[in-house]
Amino acid sequence: MIFSKKKKDEQPASEPDLVKEEKQDLKLEKEVHNEKLLSVVNVERVFQAGGAPLRVLKGINMELRQNQLVMLRGRSGSGKTTLLNCLGGLDTPTEGEIWFNGRPFHKLSDDKRTLVRRKEMGFIFQAFALMPLLSAKENVELSLRMAGVPRGTWKERVDHCLELVGLEKRMNHRPFELSGGEQQRVAIAKAIAHKPILLLADEPTAELDSNMAAQIMSVFKTIIRTEQVTICMTTHDPTIMEVADHVYEMVDGKFI
Ligand SMILES: Nc1ncnc2c1ncn2[C@@H]1O[C@H](COP(=O)(O)OP(=O)(O)OP(=O)(O)O)[C@@H](O)[C@H]1O
Ligand SMILES: [Mg+2]
Repeated sequence: MIFSKKKKDEQPASEPDLVKEEKQDLKLEKEVHNEKLLSVVNVERVFQAGGAPLRVLKGINMELRQNQLVMLRGRSGSGKTTLLNCLGGLDTPTEGEIWFNGRPFHKLSDDKRTLVRRKEMGFIFQAFALMPLLSAKENVELSLRMAGVPRGTWKERVDHCLELVGLEKRMNHRPFELSGGEQQRVAIAKAIAHKPILLLADEPTAELDSNMAAQIMSVFKTIIRTEQVTICMTTHDPTIMEVADHVYEMVDGKFI
């Protein structure tokens, strides 16, 4: 919002006042936008697979700020998923630091990291990862249960999230009764239900046609605005990258 609303009986603001208010609002917006949510410092990941060590991440530095849509692009095998797994604490770097919301994520025990992940992060994978026997509604409920959200608030939140992704009419369908794009939208509702501050998505549009992919991106834009979430995703699709706030280009385990 640029101009603040005035009550009817108040004097209308003069022109310079409005300009001043506009500047203040923009400054506030910028400050919010500039807050660091995640910092990655010199991260390396070496796998010990079949003898020789394999260096997959070779000194990654990056930052995610609040309410940003950030993309990682790079060829197959360049290390995108490995990095995303480290950001989400599903894997730990061999070297380097990851700071998440003021905490040294790289130093936390597995249990602590799991707790932080369940409460403050959401994940979306290429292949939807929904529970096949549960309805859309029950799938979304599951993430609230996992995050320890009180049961009394579930219904309202589930309805709201399925509405956000435009699936309120499909809430009792099970995954096999939904199209690919619809399944991915349930996966988004599921990933944001517990109000994470960071959403990590690995190729969330790879299995979708360009129309559906554009719809998913528009849902992402909406939730960044309305749910105060930062999204970091990987993609191969150049048309999708146009909507990113920032694109990190990965080549052979490094950013260029
Ligand atoms: N657990 C593991 N053990 C050993 N090597 C691994 C492991 N995970 C990934 N790698 C290797 O690390 C490299 C990078 O894999 P990664 O999955 O991060 O690539 P990617 O950029 O996500 O590729 P794609 O676009 O195909 O998904 C690959 O060569 C892969 O074989
Ligand atoms: Mg990958």
